Amino acid sequence: MRILFLNGPNLNLLGLREPDLYGNSTLVEIEKQVSLKAKELDVDVEFRQSNSEGELITWIQEARNNFNGLVINAGAYTHTSIGIRDAITAVKIPTVEIHLSNIHSREQFRHNSMIAPVCIGQIIGFGGYSYVLGLIAIYNVIVNKSV
Ligand code: DQA
Repeated sequence: MRILFLNGPNLNLLGLREPDLYGNSTLVEIEKQVSLKAKELDVDVEFRQSNSEGELITWIQEARNNFNGLVINAGAYTHTSIGIRDAITAVKIPTVEIHLSNIHSREQFRHNSMIAPVCIGQIIGFGGYSYVLGLIAIYNVIVNKSV
């Protein structure tokens, strides 16, 4: 099983960026935690981050030939990107939306997720552990072939 983790804008700054909201771990440290769980589950994981909406869309499109599932933290594009939503719909790869913070306890403009309706579900508010939970969730969906 191959799972692609995609990260959107500013997530390359984790560790430095608003640690009260997002924690002190860097993206690389979070990815190490995910990799440990992936090893346990015998899953191959790949991690990518981009600040560019178009690049994220291209990666989602390409994933249809190479990956069984997608776990995405689209960052601020979560709230704006019809393009990312359409790409997820187009490739029909099972997708889990994740966020470090609880977007519903924050500003009103973060309460809406453009991609939520085309994802299996959302995991939010657990800091870096949302990524590990995202892996467990997508693994479970693929292995059991249902939610
Ligand atoms: C975020 C939440 C978004 O609203 C924000 O723009 C981010 C991070 C999160 O993981 O909590 O960049 O996706």
